[in-house]
Amino acid sequence: MSSSEAASRRVYIETYGCQMNTYDSSAIGGILTRSGYALASDPAAADIILLNTCSVRELAEHKVFSRIGELRSLRRRGQIRADIIGVCGCMAERLSGALATGEGHADLVAGVDQYAQLPRMLARLLSGAARTPPLATGHLAEMHYVAPPAAYPANNSHLVTIHKGCDYRCTYCIVPATRGPQREKAPSAILDEIRGIVAAGGDEVTLLGQNVTAYRAPGLDFAGLLRQVAGIDGLARIRFLTGHPCDMDERLIGTIGSLDKVCPWLHLPAQSGSDRILRRMKRFYTRDQYLSLIETARRLVRDATFSGDFIVGFPGETDDDFRLTLELVREVRYDQTFNFKYSARPGTPAARLDDDVDIAVKKERLAEVMRLQDEIWQELAAQEIGHCRRAAVEGRARRPEGALKARTPNNRKVLLKDCNAAVGDVLDIRITGCEATTFFAELA
Ligand code: 5AD
Ligand code: SF4
Repeated sequence: MSSSEAASRRVYIETYGCQMNTYDSSAIGGILTRSGYALASDPAAADIILLNTCSVRELAEHKVFSRIGELRSLRRRGQIRADIIGVCGCMAERLSGALATGEGHADLVAGVDQYAQLPRMLARLLSGAARTPPLATGHLAEMHYVAPPAAYPANNSHLVTIHKGCDYRCTYCIVPATRGPQREKAPSAILDEIRGIVAAGGDEVTLLGQNVTAYRAPGLDFAGLLRQVAGIDGLARIRFLTGHPCDMDERLIGTIGSLDKVCPWLHLPAQSGSDRILRRMKRFYTRDQYLSLIETARRLVRDATFSGDFIVGFPGETDDDFRLTLELVREVRYDQTFNFKYSARPGTPAARLDDDVDIAVKKERLAEVMRLQDEIWQELAAQEIGHCRRAAVEGRARRPEGALKARTPNNRKVLLKDCNAAVGDVLDIRITGCEATTFFAELA
């Protein structure tokens, strides 16, 4: 299709799941706007709706199936005008057949490595040449589909995916199947992308990947990449997600601690506090090794804060195993934990184990770990009151009206009332209170 035909078509992209999908959605937006499409900011205004989906837990997939049903029914009733409802992302990779036929009823299916095909697939649909839903899946040898987003939104903080896929084989995880093996974005492409962000007014990046700590390019590991990124003039802060405890050694932690631009916040999923369960998950570290990493980080990274992921109710998890998880949470004192009930994913090694923890027990354990984390956070937050910190302004909050949203380098959210500053400004503040996970502060 020529650009002029595409120009009248508006695309709405709805994103599910992790930050990698958020980045991919902006890359899809970049690919399509360069082909002449325009982006819509709500589904009712769109001719084409793309759902960028997640497969990590069963619930995430159910949500998308019901969303497709809902959109199709809105279309039947004339409440939305989109004539194409397509599915991208992890579900497109895992369930392409079911999506394109039967229960899915998607008009188009594009897997995580196939976004460069979208203009061609849409053109076939729009010209009436496609008799069946266009479908493209499978993994490419290199990571080259991700074109950087076409335009950087006017905020100071940006995501930059640095690699794709995962070479670990945690037994519960669908990601190696949906996103494929680990493939890297070339260091030069990463640096150019970040220089582009800085030139467009950004001053903070979050380097993204399933396991950024496993980044490897000829002559360069993640610590080396951090040093090169930190060398970019005009860039103020570097965050990264997600680290794997196995690739976090003292040298990398030392690099993180020694570079002023690298923020002292580590998202380091532990998944369980029991060595028996960690072995069954094939995580390749023990509870003691994990705790010693945390201790090293506290020693080498000033003001370090931590967040983590936990799965409760993994096959075979006993009350004693779960106690060990609670004790680990108590010992680390995370700022935040993301806690999930185990969800068997078809085709993963753990799906062959007996999913023997009763759903009611999974729910109880989930509630208990969340309750404990809440208590810990209340204590950590109370200790912050009265302290002076620095925080970078991210924009205006919706509530209280007019308040400024800011974030400390160690990833704590702050609201400032009656204060005027521009996005990106770094302010000296005094913490005055905390509600849920957000601090209140005044200028110091
Ligand atoms: N069931 C429950 N949680 C899972 N996660 C990954 N796979 C599963 C699963 N099958 C969680 C892990 C991971 C996070 C992104 O999602 O905690 O770190
Ligand atoms: Fe999944 Fe494990 Fe890879 Fe993370 S490290 S994406 S949990 S296989």
